[in-house]
Amino acid sequence: MAAARGEFSSRFGFLMAASGSAVGLGNIWGFPTQAASNGGAAFLFTYLILAFALAYPALMAELIIGRHARANAVTALQAISPSKNGKLFGLVVGFVGITTVSFILSFYAIVSGWMIAFFIDPMARLVGADSVSAWLTNDAVLRNGFFVVVFMMLTVWIISAGVKDGIEKWASRLMPSLILILFLLIIYVLTLPGAMEGLKAYLLPDFSRVFDPDLLVSAMGQAFFSLSLGVGTMLIYGSYIPKHENLPVVGGLVAVLDIGIAVMAGMLILPAMYVALANGVPIFDDGGGLIAGPRLIVSVLPALFNSMGFVGIFVALAFFALMTIASLTSSISMLEVPVAYSVEHHGIGRKTSAIVLGALITIISLVIVFNFDSLFDLVVSYTTEISQPLLGLAFCLFGGWIWNRNEILEEIKQGSPDAESGLFWKVWPFYIKFICPVAILIVYFQ
Ligand code: PFF
Repeated sequence: MAAARGEFSSRFGFLMAASGSAVGLGNIWGFPTQAASNGGAAFLFTYLILAFALAYPALMAELIIGRHARANAVTALQAISPSKNGKLFGLVVGFVGITTVSFILSFYAIVSGWMIAFFIDPMARLVGADSVSAWLTNDAVLRNGFFVVVFMMLTVWIISAGVKDGIEKWASRLMPSLILILFLLIIYVLTLPGAMEGLKAYLLPDFSRVFDPDLLVSAMGQAFFSLSLGVGTMLIYGSYIPKHENLPVVGGLVAVLDIGIAVMAGMLILPAMYVALANGVPIFDDGGGLIAGPRLIVSVLPALFNSMGFVGIFVALAFFALMTIASLTSSISMLEVPVAYSVEHHGIGRKTSAIVLGALITIISLVIVFNFDSLFDLVVSYTTEISQPLLGLAFCLFGGWIWNRNEILEEIKQGSPDAESGLFWKVWPFYIKFICPVAILIVYFQ
């Protein structure tokens, strides 16, 4: 079985795949709006600290476990647990992770479907197909269901092709395009009237809020969601990293890319909102806060693009291409978690696993689409606010308490022979054992 496992063919390929998983709607949509409504640069500051101090160590735990065990989450967590109880805990955490990530994908696919619809819309308008444009942009069950299916088919198609020919190939194409589009959009938007106001709202800190419990909880949730932690995604990607790679370095690069792109996205979204305001588009909700939920993406920004005239069509195209790419490189990492388990544990072929599991998740998405008001928020909060932090905590327990410390060091040393005397090994074991679990618990119970 080991010989049949996929592997990333280069460091670049892994970096694109893992940062592709990390960089998603959470970065481009979630982070900027959270920052704007939580004290601007004060949120940024807290986020940076939490991301490097809590999320990066947890990311490393997943990558190290994955590469050591060379297996899916369920098998890996059992393999590193010496005791019977540890193995049982591994089984439970692995399964809860697979279930959680499947539900995350089920709501993520709905929002990603909107992104595809809004990406096609400018093309429809360009050729004068107004009725098509109206269908694409009006919130309706049929449209939402249709694009969920389209998005999931794309995800299944990439995952069916395997680690190197699917995940790595597409992430290596899509991620550089995402970074380029993001740069071009920032440059353009910053030249427009009103943009500087937005930049101020984003970057001027309101330090009175740094120790606000709400801000801490939001920043930690955002950091865990953004780095795709706790659900086995980074573990499975870690399992495809070649043994000669230096894990602390590649993990650090993924964190820097993820955080860097979130910070940059803030330089696009906030200025764009204030440009919209200057163009007469309302950007504050009834409570006086910035509009941050779905309305931001499916109504405020499209209204801004419409107010830009002809050029707005191309700006809309670029923006929704960016969102679609960000979604797709994240969704493939989510589907890979149950697929890898099905392939390795049950010996079912990759293609069959991808199609069957993809279809099951699509059905869950469709159930949510049909019962949107009662189910959507519920699924989002159960998975991201309850399950994900607890799973993150469980991974810290595996890395700090359950797995043998010498084995961890041996695994790191494979790609970094001097690791024992390096900074990472001086800090990380203590962090993952004490600081991370306690901090996660404190923030969780806030
Ligand atoms: N990190 C992704 C984002 O920021 O949008 C979301 C995500 C991807 C969460 C993969 C969980 C996951 F397993």
